[in-house]
Amino acid sequence: MRTVITYGTYDMFHEGHRRLLERARELGDWLIVGVTSDSYDLSRGKLNVQQSTLERVENVRNTGLADQVLIEEYAGQKILDIQEWGVDVFAIGSDWLGKFDYLKDYCDVVYLDRTRGVSSTKLRNESMGIHRIGLVGAGAEAENLVKEARYVSGISVEAVWDPNAEKAASFASDMELGWAYESYPDLLSNVDAVYISTPVDSRPDMIRQALQADVRVLSESPLTLSKEETEELTGLAERKDLALVEGIRTAYTPGFQRMVAYARSGSIGFIRSVEATLTRVRGTEPVSASDAGAIAELAVYPLLTVLKLLGGEYTDVRCRIIESGTTKKHLFARIDLEYPRAVASVKVGIGVRAENDLEIAGTRGSLYVPAPWWRTQHYETRFEDANENEEFYDRLEGDEFRYELAELSSRIRGNGRSAYKLRAEDSVSIAEVVELINGTTPIKA
Ligand code: CTP
Repeated sequence: MRTVITYGTYDMFHEGHRRLLERARELGDWLIVGVTSDSYDLSRGKLNVQQSTLERVENVRNTGLADQVLIEEYAGQKILDIQEWGVDVFAIGSDWLGKFDYLKDYCDVVYLDRTRGVSSTKLRNESMGIHRIGLVGAGAEAENLVKEARYVSGISVEAVWDPNAEKAASFASDMELGWAYESYPDLLSNVDAVYISTPVDSRPDMIRQALQADVRVLSESPLTLSKEETEELTGLAERKDLALVEGIRTAYTPGFQRMVAYARSGSIGFIRSVEATLTRVRGTEPVSASDAGAIAELAVYPLLTVLKLLGGEYTDVRCRIIESGTTKKHLFARIDLEYPRAVASVKVGIGVRAENDLEIAGTRGSLYVPAPWWRTQHYETRFEDANENEEFYDRLEGDEFRYELAELSSRIRGNGRSAYKLRAEDSVSIAEVVELINGTTPIKA
């Protein structure tokens, strides 16, 4: 018996898929089809697959062409599958030409001509419709967004507005955008969503105007510098049923989601303490923080982490800040939150460097996330009995920005299923602490 194997995502099953399976089947007597798991697709940067693993398996089964279906869960699995199932032929579409030659050590490798004119990506774009994104602010972050948006289905960055019209015009020409508008209302009447990356003091007004014009919003974080204003804007978005996505990239990465869920699942016992540090001496990683409220812009990352791990029901919050005597800028802040049964401590600094890690202490063990924990790719649990220790890896494909844009794309379509990643009440809690940071009398250095 000659066994053939082929792999794919098989999202929105189409004619190209069916023809590929038919021809693969003709290469032998038994056809095995590997269907990628949702998490494998996420980890290799395929963020907009529309159907779940189960639906995609059903797509393949319904053709009646597969004798056996298996799930592909990790890179390198093909080599093991081929050996385990005694595969004679590996078949794949010609878009992969040469990429699987390494399998020739294990079986024959056949590249089949790809069917022209159809692909899941094309179908996704057609069925989703493309939503037009306008940029508010023509800075480095907007540039990064344009680059990452190319990897996300269903959105297209088309226009820019900046208070400095010349800057907007040259940005549009450099980044090959269709339009640079001279007025913000003009931009709003020509796009479906905006990405706001102007300085924080201008954001509330930009967000309000966009929502009032029925335009969805992705805004850099924090949305505003006050709890009251954040409540007003998240309330407005809710009443108008429009997506308002706060751009804390970490919140949307799969590694962060899993780390939080794992920590809260009792794996390290009850969480009693969270310590998260995010400091830098120079450079713009992970956020650009050049304007007023810079330290607050950095603090949103560890604050979100504390809220996700311990919840929003803190009973007390205190803040200490060191300010530069010469530049009057905040250099370092330490924020302590008290919960009924836990404490948290957040340290942020610009021009002061501390160990940038995240430590979660539980009644059974600790969970440690080394820098850059805000990209959350690697974390480990540590117990008194070292045999129990475990390490976890969740690779991030590309920039965290990509995941944030995938979130925007899905929320624009009215899919609120993922809104739990950063809820309106999280935004309000964050704004409350940010307000406190900015209202604290600093120690001069
Ligand atoms: N395939 C094909 N002809 C097409 C599309 C896909 O022969 N027009 C083949 C691929 O080469 C692969 C298999 O079908 O061997 C599964 O591909 P998959 O990646 O699931 O489909 P795509 O339509 O290419 O998906 P995407 O657009 O998301 O990359």
